[in-house]
Order: sequence, then structure tokens, then C-alpha cells
Amino acid sequence: MSERWTPDSWRSKPVLQVPEYPNAKALADVEAQLATFPPLVFAGEARNLKKALARVAAGEAFLLQGGDCAESFAEHGANNIRDFFRVLLQMAVVLTYAGAVPVVKVGRIAGQFAKPRSSPTEKAGGVELPSYRGDIVNDIAFTAEARTPDPQRQLMAYRQSAATLNLLRAFATGGFANLASVHQWMLGFIKDSPQSRRYKELADRISEALNFMRACGLDLESHPELRATDFYTSHEALLLGYEQAFTRVDSTTGDWYATSGHMLWIGDRTRQIDHGHVEYFRGIKNPIGLKCGPSLRADDLLRLIEVLNPDNEPGRLTLIGRFGADKIGEHLPVLVRAVQREGRVVVWSCDPMHGNTITSTSGYKTRPFDRILSEVKSFFAIHAAEGTHAGGVHLEMTGQDVTECIGGARAITDEGLNDRYHTVCDPRLNAEQSIDMAFLIAELLKQDRAAQAKPMPAVAGL
Ligand code: TRP
Ligand code: MN
Repeated sequence: MSERWTPDSWRSKPVLQVPEYPNAKALADVEAQLATFPPLVFAGEARNLKKALARVAAGEAFLLQGGDCAESFAEHGANNIRDFFRVLLQMAVVLTYAGAVPVVKVGRIAGQFAKPRSSPTEKAGGVELPSYRGDIVNDIAFTAEARTPDPQRQLMAYRQSAATLNLLRAFATGGFANLASVHQWMLGFIKDSPQSRRYKELADRISEALNFMRACGLDLESHPELRATDFYTSHEALLLGYEQAFTRVDSTTGDWYATSGHMLWIGDRTRQIDHGHVEYFRGIKNPIGLKCGPSLRADDLLRLIEVLNPDNEPGRLTLIGRFGADKIGEHLPVLVRAVQREGRVVVWSCDPMHGNTITSTSGYKTRPFDRILSEVKSFFAIHAAEGTHAGGVHLEMTGQDVTECIGGARAITDEGLNDRYHTVCDPRLNAEQSIDMAFLIAELLKQDRAAQAKPMPAVAGL
């Protein structure tokens, strides 16, 4: 691994989950075109996120990462983006206020298109076609034409990511995210739920606090800390040709950065140490994530850390566990102890979604809310027992009122899944379930803080 790294050095390694494009020349042409397009993010922003994540690693902030399993071309629109962002802000404000901790906000958005698949093909009605690999690769319709990987889709994914990010930046800094509008983030459809009542109470308390400060003579509008928020983007960097095209030298430092998003992660299926994905990631300076599933052994994890973060830079590496509620107790403590023993600095994050997917009796792929919560609770308990920090969560969620995960405060039943099951990929928490989850996590955070009994220092600029 000490060999020279270049943005294309991954090409000389084995690479899993690669789509079979029928026309290599057409693919190369698109990649060449993408390489001339403006970057989506600036290296300085990635460094700011890395600094914020370093605070998370030190137990001084909490990471909230969430969004769709996969973005789609069909659902691209202002309302979807706004509704997602609003729910994320609501969750963040719950965690910040009730959990009394600065929250680092990272979306699975503006680039989360490519999906790994367990099988390269799918059979239906005696026909075998390539699997759907996300809108950046092919179309979900079950026809030979739709399923043939089309490189032109990468141009579309880039344009959609740019438009999405543009709106999110406007929301984050242009006034929408102003703390004074906590009441305006109330979503119409959850007005009479237990969660909306709880949320409104909290919003009232925040307004009171702001009014008090105003009465004391503070000009709130002149404080960007209250008027704006820092929001970052992330996705699984699966399609390495696309990522390579957006890998650029930062002129201020001379370092290579992925500019397709602020933070990228390696999937649980593509984390082989001698393969292309790990090779690509070792050369970029962004903060990165590594999904850790039940098959990851402690010695393999330590070897991966050595390759991905040789200088032990805080904030560089976030380990995102996705074990399942019934497996986390067996797997996470072993990994935590190994990392502690070697003195490695990481952010520990919990993805309670991917290890808790089941098929319901009605045949839908779903995730029970209770199992999701159970994995999060174990995550906090394990870190408390090991003396490490429960750093964050990684959720699949949407701002829409879908019915994809069963349970929650307004219990969605197996039969209810049929009402609004819209996902093209994995089942997501709906808006109400997401806010519900934020309140429950805030409780855990509060307990954690009380146990540590050490005041949480402010994070500048958050
Ligand atoms: N700037 C702070 C932060 O991002 C406070 C803040 C402003 C905030 N708008 C927000 C917090 C929206 C949560 C949600 O944490
Ligand atoms: Mn998923």
C-alpha cells in the first residue's frame, strides 16, 4: 500500500460492484466530460467538516447523518429537498436543545445515487436482467433497455446533485435555518401527533430563550450562530469512475480532494483492503466513513485504519457500525477495544437501519422502529461501558409521510405499509418517526452527559 497513489490507481486493483457498461468509449467520454465540470464542494469545507468531526471524536459534539437510501431522478424537486432539510433541522434542534450538545449535520444527499447489490442480475417471470444499481447507473423498470447501464445518467446525477446542493446551501445560510423559525418548521401533517406536541413545547422554550436574549439587548439577527447552520453532504462513493472525475487538487494545499461531496464512505461490501475502493479512499483528504458490518474482524479493521488514516488524524475516519439489534452486542465491543488498545482516534457512529431489515408477512421489505431504537440503545450502552464516545447516528429517513418502517409513536402496522410505500431502495423512517427517534436519542445523550458530568464546550461556528 505504500505504492504511489493517483486518482486512477484504483483501476489496477480488483473492484467489486462495477456496472457492465456496453460501450467503454461512451463511458470514457462521459468521465472525461465530468472531469471538466466545476466541483460541487470546496476543499476548505471538507476540512471544516473534518474539524467538526474531530470534536465529535473527542466527545464534544454529536454527528447526525441522514437521508434517503438512494436519491432518484423521478423524485427530484424543491418540496422533497425542503421537507428533508426541515426534518433534519428539527431533529438537530431536538438533539442540540434536549441533548444539550452541538450537532454536526451531514446529509445522505446531493450525490447518494449508486447502490451495491447482492446479485448482479435479477430474475422475474423467467427473464434475467441486470440488477438495478441506482439512477446514476440504470433505470429501475424491468426491461432490458432500462436495465442497461447508461453513462449519460452520470451527467444527470451531477446536474441533480448541483441543483440539490444549491438549494440546501440557500436554506442553510439564507434565513430558512434561522433558529427563530423553529415553529415554522412544524410540518402540516404531523400537527396532531404526540411528536408534534412535544416538538412544539421544545420550540416554545427556544423562542422564550431567544426573546429573553432580545429583551436583554442582544441583536439576534447579527449573530450567524443563530441565523445559519453548517450543513454538509455525503454519499457512498461506489462508482469510482465518477468519483475520479471529481477528484481535484486543492490549490491552497496541493492535496487531492474528492469534490463530489464533503464526506464519502466505503460500503460494507467494498471494504477489502487490497481492492479498488480502499485504494481510492486512501489518497483523498476528505473526512471519510467506513461501514462496519458483522463480518468485519478486529484485526482487519486495524489494518484498514492503518491504510485509511496512517497519521491518526482526528476527524478523518468515522466508523459506521451496522450490525443489527441482535448482533451489535457481540461485535461492537470487540472492535471498540481493539481500536482503543491501538490508540486510534475515530468517530463511532451507529447505522441502526441496515442490520435490521426484515420481510414483513405482507411481503414488504421493512424495518421495525423498535429494533432500530434497540440497536441505538445498545450502541450508547456499549460506549458507556467501554469509556468511549457514542459519536453519532446514520439514518435512512425522508421528509415525506411514507409508510415504510413499522412501529413508532403513531404505530404503522404491517397492513399499513401498503398505504405509502414509496422507496426505490431500503425502507426509510418517515418525518414523524425521524423526529420521534431524535427525541429518544436526545434522552440517551442527556444520560451520557450526566454520567460524564463534564460540561460540553461550545463548538465555534456551528
Ligand atoms: N448555528 C447553530 C447550529 O447549527 C444553531 C442553529 C441555527 C441551529 N439554526 C439551527 C441548530 C437549526 C439546529 C437547527 O447548531
Ligand atoms: Mn440503504
